[in-house]
Amino acid sequence: MMSDKQLQEKHDLNVIIVDDKEEGGRKAFELVEEAVQNGAQVLGLATGSSPVPLYNEMKNSETDYSHLISINLDEYVGLPEDHPQSYHTFMYEHLFQYKPFKKTFIPNGLGDEEEEIKRYNRVIEEYPIDLQILGIGTNAHIGFNEPGTPFLQETHMEKLTDATIEANKRYFESEEDVPKYAFSMGIKSIVSAKKIILMAYGEQKAEAISKMINGPITEEVPASILQTHDDVTIIVDKAAASKL
Ligand code: F6R
Repeated sequence: MMSDKQLQEKHDLNVIIVDDKEEGGRKAFELVEEAVQNGAQVLGLATGSSPVPLYNEMKNSETDYSHLISINLDEYVGLPEDHPQSYHTFMYEHLFQYKPFKKTFIPNGLGDEEEEIKRYNRVIEEYPIDLQILGIGTNAHIGFNEPGTPFLQETHMEKLTDATIEANKRYFESEEDVPKYAFSMGIKSIVSAKKIILMAYGEQKAEAISKMINGPITEEVPASILQTHDDVTIIVDKAAASKL
């Protein structure tokens, strides 16, 4: 559990600058391989565009993941599992159909709020995350923990900000179709992972990356909490690193 002391302790984040997201995917894959070889059992997974090159490397690899557990960060509220834009569908299409895991956990977007939160917190408690994969929002959210979310919050239902709805509308027919709420693992659970890899590509992430690494640790910049973790690797391209 995160204590006040841990929240004050600062660590340097390990930053790797790559030429493009394909190289980023290869670097991340090397780190995932190393962790799995060293006995990692539980992978925390993210959706969105940033981890796709990593998932491509994983799906094209010889590595067997069928002894591992995966726990995803989030899911849109109101979307059934088989909805084309659900994170269940995303994970199946990008990874699980090629590389089945022993067990995969993703929040149930149709679940009763209270029950689903309890269930997901129990999952995270039962399977402590060895390696967490993250992307970052343009507003520095991690998971769907938007600016202002308390660092000590566990799984909850989050109202998505206008910036997130705007960023995600590219996947939906219209902005009205973008769900307004998501179930998200909380920041407290994310930072309890033993090891974290965060990937970000493109100029639109530069501000968030700069604030996360060099700014104050504040709930207004959710990813800034990673400065308190002792094993974080940030993989960015030159554009995302341009404000460092
Ligand atoms: C997705 C998630 C989000 C994304 C973030 C960046 O599971 O938790 O925090 O990682 O919105 O998304 P992309 O990679 O699409 O820019």
